Amino acid sequence: MSRESIISRESQKIDETADESTLASLRPENLSEYIGQEAVIQKLTIAIKAALGRGEPLDHILFHGPPGLGKTTLAHIVSNEMNAGLVCTSGPALERAADLVGILTNLQQGDILFIDEMHRLPRVVEEYLYPAMEDFVIDIVLDPGPHARTVRLDLAEFTIVGATTRAGLITSPLRNRFGLSLHMQFYSTSELAEITRRSSRILNLEITDGGAETIALRSRGTPRICNMLLKRVRDFAQVEGKDAITEDVAVEAMDIHGVDEAGLDGLDRKYLSVIIKQYTGGPVGVAAMAATLNEEKDTLIDVVEPYLLISGFLNRTSRGRMTTLKAYRHLGLKRSSQEELPF
Ligand code: ADE
Repeated sequence: MSRESIISRESQKIDETADESTLASLRPENLSEYIGQEAVIQKLTIAIKAALGRGEPLDHILFHGPPGLGKTTLAHIVSNEMNAGLVCTSGPALERAADLVGILTNLQQGDILFIDEMHRLPRVVEEYLYPAMEDFVIDIVLDPGPHARTVRLDLAEFTIVGATTRAGLITSPLRNRFGLSLHMQFYSTSELAEITRRSSRILNLEITDGGAETIALRSRGTPRICNMLLKRVRDFAQVEGKDAITEDVAVEAMDIHGVDEAGLDGLDRKYLSVIIKQYTGGPVGVAAMAATLNEEKDTLIDVVEPYLLISGFLNRTSRGRMTTLKAYRHLGLKRSSQEELPF
């Protein structure tokens, strides 16, 4: 993997890392502090107000969308707004049904159970969740074998907040048990600039509007990247003895880290240039790309491709991935005559 990238792809993909604990203080803690995701926030606000008004636990909620857009942050906000306890786990951490049963039986009335990477929940564990979500009960099999009997345990009424980067991999019985399914979009530049200014205030940094805008433009629509870039720019400004983060300071710092004016880093550019140079612009399958780049297929699908797709550098066709004219122009490459020219 390209190590010049300052944002570890694994940390983006697998969520919480060491840096995340420091980022925690930059996270909004309630709905009123939250910037962006207007449609999601509107639906959440109504659901929370209504549940509080009725004195009932909130319906189960599924957040889906690319990494770094605020799914975990919103789980914390939901528990704060509901004045409810929060228990966090993730799909791959729940290896056996017993792991889930232990967690569920310890939940209190109204608690929020946050399950990250919901699409990686083992199928046997998932099946225990169905009655738990629907009727707040679990059926446990005792003495498996010829003398097997089931015991039904009542659970406290709780709320599952699930998060996934791959809504398509969630089975329909599981998906159907969520009362709210909320899609997280990439953030606009003005939203990211506002987040940058807010984070700068929290970190006691002087930043100009130009500085905030420059960081926002290179953040790939993602607050997590925005906050990480801000921290790298802060390091640079401190070491260079700059009093404020201006546009020039931000550009210089991000150039050092190989984050270009479109927000693409070393791995993004490598990905595009491999399609262009080794696969004549595509179409190429993601498995072939993963092998060529020596990257995990999931990293390409979850972390690299979504922003390249939305920002028009890449197209996904039924025959595979293809670069667009914008990608050639961005990399300063010319399209040769034998390549397909669908765009
Ligand atoms: N920090 C990270 N994401 C944020 C958001 N959406 N609003 C405010 N601050 C943030």
